[in-house]
Amino acid sequence: MKSAVEPSAAFLTDRYPELGRGPVSVEPYVSPEYYEREKVHIFKKTWLQVGRVEEIPKAGDYFVKELAACDTEIIVVRNKAGQIRAMHNVCAHRLNQVVYEKCGNTRKFFCKFHGWAYDLDGKLTGVPDESCFFDLDKADYGLTQVSCDVWEGFIFVNMDPNPAQTLAEFMRPVYGDVEGYPFDKLTCGFAWTSVVNCNWKLALDAFQEAYHVAYIHGNSIADAIDKSEGGSMRPLDVVCGDLHRRLSLAGNQKSVYGNPKAVTSGGAAAQEALAESAGARPIAAAALRAGMGSARHEFPLDALPEGVNWTKHPNWLFDINVVFPDFYLSLRPNYCQAYNFRPIAHNKTLFEGRVYYPEMTTAGGRFFQEYMKVALRDVLLEDMSTVERTQLAAQTGAKQHMVLQDGEVLVRHGAHVVDRLVNAAQSV
Ligand code: FES
Ligand SMILES: [Fe+2]
Repeated sequence: MKSAVEPSAAFLTDRYPELGRGPVSVEPYVSPEYYEREKVHIFKKTWLQVGRVEEIPKAGDYFVKELAACDTEIIVVRNKAGQIRAMHNVCAHRLNQVVYEKCGNTRKFFCKFHGWAYDLDGKLTGVPDESCFFDLDKADYGLTQVSCDVWEGFIFVNMDPNPAQTLAEFMRPVYGDVEGYPFDKLTCGFAWTSVVNCNWKLALDAFQEAYHVAYIHGNSIADAIDKSEGGSMRPLDVVCGDLHRRLSLAGNQKSVYGNPKAVTSGGAAAQEALAESAGARPIAAAALRAGMGSARHEFPLDALPEGVNWTKHPNWLFDINVVFPDFYLSLRPNYCQAYNFRPIAHNKTLFEGRVYYPEMTTAGGRFFQEYMKVALRDVLLEDMSTVERTQLAAQTGAKQHMVLQDGEVLVRHGAHVVDRLVNAAQSV
């Protein structure tokens, strides 16, 4: 099908002929049966991001993560040697959940049912009244281990006991050139958790295109759009790998939300950011003025790794990175957003959003962070209330397909990859 208005530049989508240009099926977004296949062929076989190393800095620190798409709950813990381990939260005796708390610090895990004790590696070390068991060899009854590894401080787990790829092999094809980004200097911030009534892909899709920003975010952050790029936030560039995908975006450097360097660079960058939108956004401008110069670290653009702002565009705003299947990592020079869209059911998703900033050394800096938390919450509400309505509309059956434009190429790629894995597995 030929579109009525062709942009002058070549379509980004056409770089990936396997994606085609055609309509995309709605069925994967509404079918409970399709979701069951995603669980088996994707979520139980793939590396999944579950947290950061800073959450469990000391030996014995742990957190528990429910992974509904894997039909399990896992304990992620730092052991005595300082390594991070993951194991199913299932007692080897009569299968009670061993840990009830969501996070904490402990020397051992004691099952609350009959008191079996496990060390930080999941080895069974204590059994009350052990002599009444029949030839019980404690070495056979540890907690079931889950594959676990760390990339740039992000902890990943894989339900496959023998993953087809190491975590490094999984990440490097698209994200090798992002390694070295200063994640370790972005240790402060805020988080949200919310159950969203829509399919996990539908929620993620709203974060892997910027076509909607001018419209749905028209009253909140649309002045961040770099109008020189066509007015609808067209991607500067796109990379689609075998699994992962990313795109880069420009921003209006003369707006408080469109200038990514303002708060940590201060000076000329901050003055530029206030140039156009300070009048229209007086509170945002006040927050920016209060926060300028407060960050503990500097983040010079030329110190960023090659894979961040890889087009080196002068008006760069941020990069959207989507780590397959459900991890969205948006990178700016001085803060980042790490969102997970964890499936709960075919039409229910657990959104876990974390935003990481550098430590702010003044009260003004803290005020800036608080302001950004509230501003971003409003933007997220604009997204999430929309996708719940989209899910209801998709479930009516009125439409079997959706049409995508070139700027929505990551949405197309995401649907393509999921379908390829689900169907390849079926045809074996
Ligand atoms: S079920 Fe855990 S000790 Fe019995
Ligand atoms: Fe949005």
